[in-house]
Amino acid sequence: MARITAGIATSHVPAIGAAIDLGKTGDEYWAPVFAGYAWVRAWIKDNTPDVVILCYNDHASAMMLDIVPTFALGFAEEYEPADEGWGARPVPTVIGDPDLAGHLAEQLVIDDFDLTIMNAMDVDHGLTVPLSLVFGQVDEWPCRVIPLAVNVVQYPAPSGRRCYNLGKAIQKAVESWGEDLKVVIFGTGGMSHQIQGPRAGLINTPFDTAFLDGLSQNPEKLCEIQGIEYMREAGNEAIELVMWLMMRGALGDKVDEVFRFYHVPASSTGVGSIILETREFHEQNKARTAA
Ligand SMILES: [Fe+2]
Repeated sequence: MARITAGIATSHVPAIGAAIDLGKTGDEYWAPVFAGYAWVRAWIKDNTPDVVILCYNDHASAMMLDIVPTFALGFAEEYEPADEGWGARPVPTVIGDPDLAGHLAEQLVIDDFDLTIMNAMDVDHGLTVPLSLVFGQVDEWPCRVIPLAVNVVQYPAPSGRRCYNLGKAIQKAVESWGEDLKVVIFGTGGMSHQIQGPRAGLINTPFDTAFLDGLSQNPEKLCEIQGIEYMREAGNEAIELVMWLMMRGALGDKVDEVFRFYHVPASSTGVGSIILETREFHEQNKARTAA
């Protein structure tokens, strides 16, 4: 049967993608960010999944503001990197998994989550930057990817609690898929950032750190944070953190934090990343390493 083994949360700042694509990862400004992700890239090499379910948000690239689905599940065979105004990122085509996506859609609708089905779409930096940060610069992505786009662009965004509960339903749906698959779920976006207005550049490190702590140890408490609080405390775009709760919900009650990284500033944001393994997978991994 298929299993979600771990979750990765990471920022998806577009400037990080530009730094990778333009060969600036060793620059003084960017080097600490990419050094922080070295451990993630080593971890994923040892724990390469068959499929990634990637929770992200489209930034009016594939979904213009005439239609704004709250939750949009990718159902396509493949997804091209979107042209966000300066040409598409030079990254591989993303290969989908329509069979598993179909099963997820069916089970999630049965579980009362009404999804929009995306039979075709391009994927923007929200999806491709996390893939680059985790897998590096590769000729092809090493696994299939199911995009799950969440509306955090136009009010009202779904609550953290709703995203957490959707994550729980995703875990249940994956575990009812008969194929023997290792699945890793990504929650992307955040952390502190505000890209416009008089508060542009706002960063609240205590808020970000507490969020990382809560994700690991007490996600129920994080579910109480209302949308307005994310924006007030950590900037308008910090609302993207609800997608981290979707990842957390999909891991079950007991997790083990195996990695955490936080760096300020990167493109006027707080950049964070965390890897949580399910308790079951963590114990298996420990036994495998010891053997
Ligand atoms: Fe974003």
